[in-house]
Amino acid sequence: MDISKLMYRDGLMDGESILVTGGGTGLGREMTEAFLKLGADVHICGRRQNKLDEAAEELMAAHGGKVTGHACDIRDADAIKGMVDAIWAEGGALTGVVNNAAGNFISRTEDLSVNGFNAISDIVFRGTFYVTHEIGKRLIAEEKKASFLSILTTWVWNGGPFVVPSAMSKSAINTMTQSLAVEWGRYGLRFNAIAPGLFPTDGMSARLSPGGRGDNSNDRMNPMGRHGEMHELANLAVFLMGPGAEWVNGQTIAIDGAGYQATGGNFYQMLSPLGDEEWDQMRAMIKGTNAK
Ligand code: HXC
Repeated sequence: MDISKLMYRDGLMDGESILVTGGGTGLGREMTEAFLKLGADVHICGRRQNKLDEAAEELMAAHGGKVTGHACDIRDADAIKGMVDAIWAEGGALTGVVNNAAGNFISRTEDLSVNGFNAISDIVFRGTFYVTHEIGKRLIAEEKKASFLSILTTWVWNGGPFVVPSAMSKSAINTMTQSLAVEWGRYGLRFNAIAPGLFPTDGMSARLSPGGRGDNSNDRMNPMGRHGEMHELANLAVFLMGPGAEWVNGQTIAIDGAGYQATGGNFYQMLSPLGDEEWDQMRAMIKGTNAK
């Protein structure tokens, strides 16, 4: 990210303590960098401690401040409880949570196994709820305010062919956002979401565009003729997480250059003509990246 393009003054997020799930890589790392640069302490979690430590060291070397990595698979509710205990023991209550961790791969829905469906929905649907629930109930008990932000996609409004488990799960998190904004608003807990269009990352390209197939960065489809830039996402995330706009609650904001309106969400419809052989190749390529 071009850090000079952050819109905000240094110190804006002094005193904030934010957890970013999946904060060691991809969009999560970019948002972590922005929060850190603006003064927040940031906790990041992911499955691989080495990746988290690497990211934390690099970011602190660049900006100072404090980033702490926690190895935690959000599919495991007990592991989340352990992580949240550790965060509270170290520095007290969080002031913000970014539900960013996700899993996804493109597949014809008829080719999905139950395990394949669960691999995605356990992360996005269940894991996001586990994190939100574990932290929310502590904040309520301690009468602390906080901001929750979930990273969704524009599929929550019109579905996602060839990414059905992700689209279903993220739609559910959109519903969680709207529901808890109302239910927990009285506790000073607010819930918003961002629905990004295409912001290319390594993980995303490997699983959603193997070998360039399904590549939506064919930016011609986008009214603005391009994909998103990381500082644009980071600026929106800071607006929703930082101080000053606390009455924004229960909103899901698209950041996609109006791609959603233009394509009607037919993101992967271009894959419809592909046959068995092409899908076999793509599946092999995607699975080759899963262990990384
Ligand atoms: C069909 C597949 C498959 C594929 C895996 N499976 N890949 N089925 N096609 N390409 C099946 C496996 O065969 C297995 O089922 C089951 O899924 C579990 O596979 P594992 O590899 O054991 O799963 P695991 O190691 O737990 O990995 C989880 C994952 C992986 C979701 C499959 O992709 C992952 O870890 N992703 C995290 C990072 C990520 O996805 N980032 C991109 C997010 S982008 P069987 O039946 O064989 O046992 C995003 C939004 C993008 O979310 C928005 C763009 C606009």
